[in-house]
Amino acid sequence: MKDTNPDRVFIFDTTLRDGEQSPGFHLDANSKLRIARQLEKLGVDVIEAGFPISSPGDFEACRRIAREIRGATVTALARAVREDIDAVWGAIKEAQTPQIHIVLSVSDVHIDRKLGMTREQVLKRGAEMVAYARSLCDNVEYSPEDAGRADPDYLVETVETMIAAGANVINIPDTTGYCLPYEFGELVRRVITDARGSEGALFSVHCHNDLGLAVANTLAAISAGARRVECTINGIGERAGNTSLEEIVMLLNVRQAKLGLECGVNTKEITRTSRLVSELTGTPVQPNKAVVGANAFAHASGIHQDGVLKDRLNYEIMKPEDVGLSDSRIVLTARSGRHAFHHRLGRLGITLGEGSDDAAWQRFLQLADTKKEVTDEDLRKIAAMSSETNGHEGNGHPPVTDQLNDHNHVADTLRHLIFG
Ligand code: KIV
Ligand code: ZN
Repeated sequence: MKDTNPDRVFIFDTTLRDGEQSPGFHLDANSKLRIARQLEKLGVDVIEAGFPISSPGDFEACRRIAREIRGATVTALARAVREDIDAVWGAIKEAQTPQIHIVLSVSDVHIDRKLGMTREQVLKRGAEMVAYARSLCDNVEYSPEDAGRADPDYLVETVETMIAAGANVINIPDTTGYCLPYEFGELVRRVITDARGSEGALFSVHCHNDLGLAVANTLAAISAGARRVECTINGIGERAGNTSLEEIVMLLNVRQAKLGLECGVNTKEITRTSRLVSELTGTPVQPNKAVVGANAFAHASGIHQDGVLKDRLNYEIMKPEDVGLSDSRIVLTARSGRHAFHHRLGRLGITLGEGSDDAAWQRFLQLADTKKEVTDEDLRKIAAMSSETNGHEGNGHPPVTDQLNDHNHVADTLRHLIFG
């Protein structure tokens, strides 16, 4: 399990397990398989296919994924009970590289209020179930749930007990998204440094986004020595979601020179994967979402458009092509400037008639003030009208906004279809 390259960060995708736990995100076996195939193309290292004990449908989905996927480790989740572990093993044993993932709480809040057990009982149960899982499978991951709110000394004791029992991956979850980045980094560093046997295990982290810190906490944990990250496409998952795969991967990619780390993801497949997950879960991605939102590579203000048209470096820290988009988007709005206006006319092959430049620009502004985005169709119309009326102001034509009204609803419908 532990890799010899210290600079390699392994990507564990849990879109099909934690991601699918989001309310209203149910995926059937066919949809899960389609996403798993795309995750394989994306180049993730581990696919968490589901929670097999939860339903016969999920068991079957995990089994089909394990049978078919060859480019990644396939894992599935079990609570620390034999029935769950047997269900996981039944579902994933045909994978090329199977892994059993066991979760059992470590925080006193969970031990008292959820499990009604003592710390000693939890340690004993965890160790027995890890040993049982190891009797079935060579790869066993142990997740001490709610580690972010646990007593660090007990967490260290738990981790060394589970390593001694046979776990070769230890995952530290911030289950409730409670930690601050420096706290979480410190916790992970402490566990790696203090737990006996940690040199033989791979350390992973699993962060939730309740305070919007999942990616920052994951980065802090990587800086502290974790080398596997659990994440989901579009950041979906319980409540506010999980660490977003596309964000952590592009962070490692864009800031490679500073961080000195690498992962095996083919970033050019990111947009395709994001769109597939959005389509199959029936959930649109918020427009301002980093990396995959519709506005992530769109420029609307005149100052930014002018800058980008002169040189993308002015406002883009990553190339749209690197995440699988064909180009960035210049959106024409009332805040756009002449540079963007002329650039778009040029791309449409429109040359304004002699002396019609100012009239066209004024018409553009007049229209832009009435709608969210001026479309290519609007521009064609503006250009035609401006050439016609050049030198004949006050010729009885109705105002440009009236003439373009029928185009507004076409533009609105298109916007609706694209952004939902
Ligand atoms: O949030 C969590 O703690 C989990 C575990 C199963 C890793 O999802
Ligand atoms: Zn989780």
